[in-house]
Amino acid sequence: MRVGVLTGGGDCPGLNAVIRAVTKSLIHHGHCEVLGIEDGFEGLMLPVPRVRALGWDEVSGILHTGGTILGTSNSANPLRGDATVAQVRHNARELGLDMLVVIGGDGTMSLAYGLHQRIGLPCVGVPKTIDNDIANCDRSFGFDTAVATATEGLRRIESTAYSHHRVMIVETMGRHAGWLALESGIAAGADIILLPEIDFDVEIVAARCRQREQRQRYSIICIGEGAKESGTRQTMRERVAHSPEPLRLGGVANVLRERLAPHLQSEVRATVLGHLQRGGDPTAFDRVLATRFGHRAAQLVIEGATGRMVTLQRGEISSVPMSAVANVQRTVPLDHDLVTTARDIGICFGDQ
Ligand code: F6P
Repeated sequence: MRVGVLTGGGDCPGLNAVIRAVTKSLIHHGHCEVLGIEDGFEGLMLPVPRVRALGWDEVSGILHTGGTILGTSNSANPLRGDATVAQVRHNARELGLDMLVVIGGDGTMSLAYGLHQRIGLPCVGVPKTIDNDIANCDRSFGFDTAVATATEGLRRIESTAYSHHRVMIVETMGRHAGWLALESGIAAGADIILLPEIDFDVEIVAARCRQREQRQRYSIICIGEGAKESGTRQTMRERVAHSPEPLRLGGVANVLRERLAPHLQSEVRATVLGHLQRGGDPTAFDRVLATRFGHRAAQLVIEGATGRMVTLQRGEISSVPMSAVANVQRTVPLDHDLVTTARDIGICFGDQ
């Protein structure tokens, strides 16, 4: 059997650990050849597909490395137009692909599901995202690493905050879901956490900072990039997109700084953690989770259980139909115990 493997969407710590586990498990099983598809679906869409054979040697020594040895792309759409679909179908046939293991976020899963349906290329999915926002998956690999990195960033910022008596705003990733801002904010002891799921009021955020100006004399605000100010139609991200260039460069954190500074005596500074959060070596937890996901994906391939995505639910590795994942986002429920815990220990979400 010939099995293709590709990584789609943004890079994420643990991708190489999955590629390694899928490849080694399939080789170990026997009668399997593994073909790495380069740069996500793009490698399958070109007139001359970009692929390379993956053997034991090719995937050795990559367990602990960040990024993806196969390259990735978050704009390649194999379903864009009939000509592209025909090219992908032709390439899959020419390459003799019996099955495709697709490692990606919800966008990539939707495309894989579409491919499965449109050209009958059997796919198995592996969930990847530092945002932890894939439906029916309690924890995707990469998230633990991103939380650790963002937490460290927040902690380092605190040195300046208390030394200079400033309000420091730190922006984390998380376009649609606030898991990363929430967990890193709690782990770093942030005073205020602003999430896409809870609209915030600048007056309330300012009041909390003013309270702290009197006693602690500094505040740390952790804002997820998808956050939204109450009473406005646009998210902070959309406001950034429509801002003049100097403001835009500072991201969502800077837009919040502009809104907050007039209400405060302290100096307010903004930091965007950006792609730092996606880079670097995966944590031990993510290496183990990615290895388990890769191994289970190989098992699904061997069993012929296609159209399914590997997942982690209540601590167990299992699988769900891709249709239950495609185009659905897992956001933070307002009554999640992390939210109530944070509220009960005095963290402000800017809504009350
Ligand atoms: O992987 C998702 C994500 O981390 C989002 O939170 C963020 O908006 C996006 O990636 C940014 O990706 P890029 O800058 O590579 O387009």
